[in-house]
Amino acid sequence: MKRAVLTFVLLAVACEKKSTEPAPAPAASPSAAASAAPAPPAEIDDALLAAFKPALPAVFENKDNPLTEDKITLGRALYYETRLSASNKISCNTCHHLDVDGADQRKSSIGHKDQEGKRNSPSVYNAAGHFVQFWDGRAKDVEEQAKGPILNPIEMAMQDEKSVVAELTRVKWYRDQFAKVFPESKAITIDNIAKAIAAFERKLSTPSRWDKFLNGDKSALTADEKAGFQKFVATGCTACHMGTYVGGSMYQKLGLVKPWTSDKDLGRFEHTKNEADKMFFKVPSLRNVEKTAPYFHDGSVATLEEAVRLMGRHQLGRELPDADIKSIVTFLKTLTGEIPKDYVAEYKVPAEIPPAPKPGK
Ligand code: HEC
Ligand code: HEC
Repeated sequence: MKRAVLTFVLLAVACEKKSTEPAPAPAASPSAAASAAPAPPAEIDDALLAAFKPALPAVFENKDNPLTEDKITLGRALYYETRLSASNKISCNTCHHLDVDGADQRKSSIGHKDQEGKRNSPSVYNAAGHFVQFWDGRAKDVEEQAKGPILNPIEMAMQDEKSVVAELTRVKWYRDQFAKVFPESKAITIDNIAKAIAAFERKLSTPSRWDKFLNGDKSALTADEKAGFQKFVATGCTACHMGTYVGGSMYQKLGLVKPWTSDKDLGRFEHTKNEADKMFFKVPSLRNVEKTAPYFHDGSVATLEEAVRLMGRHQLGRELPDADIKSIVTFLKTLTGEIPKDYVAEYKVPAEIPPAPKPGK
């Protein structure tokens, strides 16, 4: 089954590379022949869908960090905790707004003392399911990732692990919660802080109509959306964006066919210093991509249409006709999921946590 899908994708890419004519529809249906537009078949072959299964889970499990209600409650508090920043002003939510898209709608993020980082903030929604974290994959999972921003001098800028632990230890609620959640060590440590935040993130799942469709509800997508999916596959996007997250499962070179417009950020090379990694980035998930503008690691592109056009040009060596771009974008919008409103809405700092010391350190 897998092999069939792959062969199809490769064939589709191969034939489309040769010409800019519209791709032949994978399997014509009687109704398609009747209309003037190159209408795709109404139903999508299950073999094609297999490359995108399973549908999005409600929880991204990690057996090394089992979830409990108390751990999640603690993680939620830490996610919004400005004490984890040197200025007492910045929390995870500053750059990953949970009430919007899990990112910050900026080209690149503003952190400690208004310093601007060079990379665009990815969404935390569904991130826990990706094969690695960060644009360059330098953290293996959300547990490892969560330690990064707290100590990063241009993000939350805490001096060292000791000062992070000291800040939280001052608050009785945290002392009690850590003791309850981590009964073996009972300790407030950077690893336990990260585990709790990660536990909270492991339920930030946003299932969409696409999941209903994957799970067999053929009416979950409109005919236009199904046609958009066919176009997405036939154009060759699936070579990199597939699986549950429609991405988030491999590294790829940005500018694979035609060099990218900028090499200021060399991607994975910046972390590994391995020549072969130059311009390799994590292929991002396209879940909620409608909501997470601006696009790419540097946030350099404002619209989804332009992002798709550049992907065609630089990753596949093709100038996509406007109609194809529109159709692909129609499909991509089916990946917009529902924010788990009850899980993230109206966060209230537990009464036992006193306000953080005055901002501005
Ligand atoms: C100052 C803004 C800022 C703050 C504060 C911040 N982040 Fe981020 N976050 C970013 C940026 C920018 C990236 C991408 C950096 C990179 O890839 O090199 C990122 C990446 C991530 C990722 C990786 C997602 C993916 O798809 O690879 C996760 C998860 C994440 N942050 C969670 C958190 C958590 C948890 C906190 C709080 C402990 C936090 N962030 C604090 C800006 C921020
Ligand atoms: C050869 C692999 C490859 C192919 C083929 C490919 N992409 Fe990508 N895509 C990537 C990589 C790598 C990135 C991340 C680039 C970066 O570092 O900013 C990306 C980023 C994107 C983004 C930006 C997402 C964000 O959150 O910023 C969109 C949208 C996108 N791709 C859509 C598509 C579409 C649509 C197609 C087909 C026309 C396609 N891609 C084909 C590898 C690929």
